[in-house]
Amino acid sequence: KTPLAILISGRGSNMRSLIAACAEPDFPARVVLVLSNKEDAPGLDFARQAGLRAEAVPHKPFGKDRKAHERAIDARLKEAGAEFICLAGYMRLLTPFLTDAWAGKMINIHPSLLPLFPGTHTHERALEAGVRVHGCTVHHVTAGMDEGPIIAQAAVPVFPREDTADALAARVLAQEHVLYPAALRLVLGVKSDTVEKNTSLVVV
Ligand code: GAR
Repeated sequence: KTPLAILISGRGSNMRSLIAACAEPDFPARVVLVLSNKEDAPGLDFARQAGLRAEAVPHKPFGKDRKAHERAIDARLKEAGAEFICLAGYMRLLTPFLTDAWAGKMINIHPSLLPLFPGTHTHERALEAGVRVHGCTVHHVTAGMDEGPIIAQAAVPVFPREDTADALAARVLAQEHVLYPAALRLVLGVKSDTVEKNTSLVVV
């Protein structure tokens, strides 16, 4: 099983779906570290209660020095023996320091059908735009925000008259919890040279 680190900033529901998947005997990853940039992230408590190593590396003490914060994160990742990273609601933009160091070994889940709606407030923006289909994307992480090659996507319908951003977010989140472990399995299940050739594969 590949040693996996999960980076979070808050609730950690996607982290929970990955932890549950990793508990399956035939899943190709095991969680060696959960890391948060916020000490009070609820996901950290859940991970600790599940018996996992869960730590915070707060970004505030580093001020504007993003690279120094990422150096501290990188040190923890290496200490824990991580070989692959899942960003799961990690709400800080990464610099090329980390994205280059972990190129091809770091993936993210984003709550929209990229390249539509990168950034925040994706569900509000989808409703405002009047799209009839919305969803989530798992992609490789590169230096550009929500820009890396797409691995897998899941789509949900938008109900234009009665939908609210919260209702739509809940519909998408249910799919995120299915998609993320499936995409991780896909990425880890193929040799790295074939992953690169298949990065636009749609599995859902
Ligand atoms: C999820 O919807 C995730 O896709 C999103 O934050 C939420 C975290 O929830 N991530 C992004 O917006 C990243 N750009 P969770 O902490 O319950 O997994």
